Amino acid sequence: MKVEDIKKILIVGGGTMGQQTALICALHGYDVAMHDISMEILEKGFERLKKNCIRITASGEFTPEEGEAAIKRIILTDKPEIAAQDADLIIESVPEDPALKAKIFASFHELCKPETVFTTNTSTLVPSMFAHAVGRPEKFCAFHFHDIAITKIVDIMPHPGTDPETIALVREFAIKIGQIPIELKTENHGYVFNNMLMAFIGSALTLASRKVASVEDIDRSWMGVLHTPLGPFGMIDSIGIDTVWKVTDFWAQKRQDKHALGNAAFLREYVDKGDLGVKTGRGFYEYPAPAFAKKDFLTSGK
Ligand SMILES: NC(=O)c1ccc[n+]([C@@H]2O[C@H](COP(=O)([O-])OP(=O)(O)OC[C@H]3O[C@@H](n4cnc5c(N)ncnc54)[C@H](O)[C@@H]3O)[C@@H](O)[C@H]2O)c1
Repeated sequence: MKVEDIKKILIVGGGTMGQQTALICALHGYDVAMHDISMEILEKGFERLKKNCIRITASGEFTPEEGEAAIKRIILTDKPEIAAQDADLIIESVPEDPALKAKIFASFHELCKPETVFTTNTSTLVPSMFAHAVGRPEKFCAFHFHDIAITKIVDIMPHPGTDPETIALVREFAIKIGQIPIELKTENHGYVFNNMLMAFIGSALTLASRKVASVEDIDRSWMGVLHTPLGPFGMIDSIGIDTVWKVTDFWAQKRQDKHALGNAAFLREYVDKGDLGVKTGRGFYEYPAPAFAKKDFLTSGK
């Protein structure tokens, strides 16, 4: 398949990342099917996607007309067989659970045409963990996005069985949707920026869970020195506390690391209350007007 042959993108999982990848593909002229387990979840996600679209068009990168046209290119469906119809490229964004991802790939392998390229947006798992389930391992790699409101960096990570043509195709597609591809040469649990990010998030969580400093002061310290618009806890809220918990817990259990287990338990308290961050309106901060975004956050000491 050539990049010009890619016309329709199937987004599996309509959550935080599914909405973002759907929008960026649609804004660049692709037809998109967004698939999730229920229409209720999809419709709720679509409302957030539309708000994101307004924010992007307000920044001037796309005109409001382009934004409206993009929204019309997206269809929502909870039926896998409809989602799979004519899909040329799959971008999977379901929760960070290897068994779930493997199951989804196996079922879409049955439903999609043989040429369809499969990609996973996994944050910390590696594609060889599901390559066996994909049924077309040579047409499979990781294609990992960050928050599209912050950056255009995307990672492409093959597994040992990925066809170099697949890597080249996904790379060309990334450029077509206005992104900056970073290609990993070796499989790694964590991409280039993510590897560094998880180390600093882990350190911030250990400081907070051991009550060395408050969440606000940890963010204040980071923001005050590096002049960033948000600190580690603002970032965890934006990623989704449940997602960061899953990743932290997975590795904490695997490595039986004392600090990481404490970090996972600290995050779990928020997950159990349903305070998942920006997506639920409350996490370490309250949204849409989090304290760290206020003008006097650095100096207020609160
Ligand atoms: N949140 C981030 O900042 C971020 C960034 C890059 C990559 N990722 C990765 O993207 C993936 C998704 O993360 P997210 O933050 O979007 O999670 P999320 O919880 O916001 O969304 C996941 C969605 O998948 C849906 N889903 C669950 N089972 C499904 C199934 N069987 N079929 C179809 N849909 C199903 C859920 O209903 C939910 O809407 C994870 O692998 C995560 O590691 C997340």
